[in-house]
Amino acid sequence: MTTGSLVERAEKLREAFLAEHANVRDERSVSGIESLRLSYLGRKGTVTALLEGLRDCSKEERPLAGKAINILKQFVEGEIKSLQEQGEEWSLAAKLAEKPLDISLPVDSLVRSGGLHPVTLVRRELLAEFRKLGFTVYDGPEIDFDRYNFTSLNMPSEHPARDMQDTFYVAGSDNLLLRTHTSNIQIHCMLNEKPPLRIVAPGRVFRKDSDPTHTPMFHQIEAFVVDRNITFAHMKGVIDTFMKGVFGSNMKTRLRPSFFPFVEPGAELDLQCVQCSGKGCRLCKMTGWLEVGGCGMIHPNVFEAVEYDSEVYSGFAFGFGIDRMAMLKYKLEDLRQMFEGDYEFLGHFPLHT
Ligand code: PHE
Repeated sequence: MTTGSLVERAEKLREAFLAEHANVRDERSVSGIESLRLSYLGRKGTVTALLEGLRDCSKEERPLAGKAINILKQFVEGEIKSLQEQGEEWSLAAKLAEKPLDISLPVDSLVRSGGLHPVTLVRRELLAEFRKLGFTVYDGPEIDFDRYNFTSLNMPSEHPARDMQDTFYVAGSDNLLLRTHTSNIQIHCMLNEKPPLRIVAPGRVFRKDSDPTHTPMFHQIEAFVVDRNITFAHMKGVIDTFMKGVFGSNMKTRLRPSFFPFVEPGAELDLQCVQCSGKGCRLCKMTGWLEVGGCGMIHPNVFEAVEYDSEVYSGFAFGFGIDRMAMLKYKLEDLRQMFEGDYEFLGHFPLHT
């Protein structure tokens, strides 16, 4: 083999390489880069073969041929290297084209967005049911005068019924107190509005008890209707329809004669046990029924206190515990859990109803 032919072959090889290189680049073929490298620089590659050819040429010719082949080799190496760098970009671009880059972080796993308190969830559910029956929501004060919480509700001072709901008085005052029930809203509402009324009033109430089923602060919901010719039968119908709406059409309600000074006649309101459906279990103490609230026809003395004519108007009221409903719904054992602010406990409730 002559030097001339080695130099010439190096020149031809360079041209061939340039053509193949252009192809790989135009096609952005990542695998083409590796084939190109192997076919020129691999152990059986053409540039390698040229270098090996140096062994057979004459001493005089070798330096020139050696130089030409080395220049070619460096050139090919350099070009392959820059192709490899471009190749990385081509692969990335191909991947991105296949699946767009999602640069958002999954917020859920980083932030605990919290949930609604069980009392809030249940209150919303109860109010929704009352709205279906045409009731309007009314609010009243948690710190109130004796007159609204007791006297106007037919519980004059010294009345023994006050003992059942003895409460927290504001220091330095003997007639400003934390309301013991939401029935005070009956008085505020009736003093401000004229019949007919169909009102639902939820809120916080306070009593001095504290045990697994009583907390000094709890929640009640009060509903009352005032119009001409309202009867006990209307009350029973509304209570039954309401409870069926909340617990399902199989729910049964029961009224037992009882005494509350602001109603006459008055009754205790029971629900069929949600756990055993009336068969008798530990929750209902084998009675099949759960006591949830009170109800009755609004007492004429109450109408007198708000200057409604009890000869013209009649009405009913019923009230029950929201927390108690939440306990039944979520099968909670200790009412106090609800107000301890325990993060783990509260985390079990859904964000939305
Ligand atoms: N306010 C009564 C209580 O807290 C419940 C009740 C409301 C009774 C309305 C009769 C009518 O115990």
